[in-house]
Amino acid sequence: MVSNPTASAQDAASDAASNDGKLRVGVIGCGAGVFHLEGYQEEPRAKVVALAGLDTDRCQSLSARFDIPAVYREYQELLADPSIDAVSVAVPNHLHLPVVTAAVEAGKHVLVEKPLARTAAEGEQMVAAARKAERILAICFNRRYRHDVQLVHDQIQAGGFGRIYYAKAFWMRRSGIPGLGTWFTRKEQAGGGPLIDLGVHVLDMALWAMGNPEVTAVSAATFAEIGTQGKGNWPGRVSRQAVGLEYEVEDLATAFIRMADGAVLHLETSWAAYTGAGDDFGITLMGSQGGAEIFSKDYALTGTLKTFGDFQGVAVDGAPRLVKLNGHAEVIKRFVTSILEGGPVSPSGEEGVDRARLVDAIYRSAELGREIQISELTV
Ligand SMILES: NC(=O)c1ccc[n+]([C@@H]2O[C@H](COP(=O)([O-])OP(=O)(O)OC[C@H]3O[C@@H](n4cnc5c(N)ncnc54)[C@H](O)[C@@H]3O)[C@@H](O)[C@H]2O)c1
Repeated sequence: MVSNPTASAQDAASDAASNDGKLRVGVIGCGAGVFHLEGYQEEPRAKVVALAGLDTDRCQSLSARFDIPAVYREYQELLADPSIDAVSVAVPNHLHLPVVTAAVEAGKHVLVEKPLARTAAEGEQMVAAARKAERILAICFNRRYRHDVQLVHDQIQAGGFGRIYYAKAFWMRRSGIPGLGTWFTRKEQAGGGPLIDLGVHVLDMALWAMGNPEVTAVSAATFAEIGTQGKGNWPGRVSRQAVGLEYEVEDLATAFIRMADGAVLHLETSWAAYTGAGDDFGITLMGSQGGAEIFSKDYALTGTLKTFGDFQGVAVDGAPRLVKLNGHAEVIKRFVTSILEGGPVSPSGEEGVDRARLVDAIYRSAELGREIQISELTV
């Protein structure tokens, strides 16, 4: 976890006190940035005072909708405002390292979108920069704060399912490449395809629910079969920044992941595949005393959890009544609390590095065509 020295918590608290008692926040990026704008609306201790993005129309319309006084183009212009205490960063993956580093060096606490970075090595640099600047670095693993995931996590941590020995995590889209020809489908800019984009969410959901067991080995395969034909774009998602139809990343990834305690996790994720799935994700956890299955069709938040146990030796299936939680708002609440009150933040930059290391291992195993030990990675 990034340390949050008392001095910086006091600084933030006194800065906030001089601004109507609210933390002053900037949002960089106007795509997924909208989820942050919605999330901060549920956080009375902070207010968004500035927005940055190159796509002026989108930024202007968000600034009108959320009543944000300052709109910049380049992130450096927003970071130059000394009255801003914290920023949310929702820019293309290759910009996470430079934007986050510049932000912490400018004295801002940072909440960055997933994935933390294209590689664990980049993530390590971001964590080191935040430590050096004594700023908080949090990562937006928003799906961890779904009600179903929370309940399963708490049940596992309370020992209610016994020992979890087999887990599955999946996010499968039939036709959901998020913009053929945009930064998403360029290896250098995105770092990868559905594994780094969607897989990282469900890996985080499963591993966090399991209590973050140590991953020791990975055997994986990746495929680029649909995007390379120019097919599989997300319906309605135009290739906003398209300058061609280059498709340089995988469109399906699968992995078999071993933990130090003997448990295993099977992952599958696609942006595009000939399958019955539409845009479905979830996790399954099988333990020695019980289990659970989360299946979210088209982003459903309720009706998604089944639990499995026994009653007097007879199998029992449960369906807990869920409420709709806004994952971004939940992450933002934790980020703001950590800034104002001190104490470690979670999900932290370090947790982002752990997931990035696993993503690195999956790509490496797929490239080599064999199981690899995590200890073989250099970072
Ligand atoms: N947690 C989630 O549910 C979720 C959902 C979607 C995207 N994301 C993540 O959010 C990030 C952005 O994805 P997106 O879908 O919003 O992409 P996008 O292409 O729609 O938007 C990127 C934004 O970054 C801005 N930008 C680029 N360069 C900039 C610069 N130099 N200065 C200021 N702004 C700049 C662009 O103008 C644009 O507003 C990615 O890391 C993605 O993985 C997370």
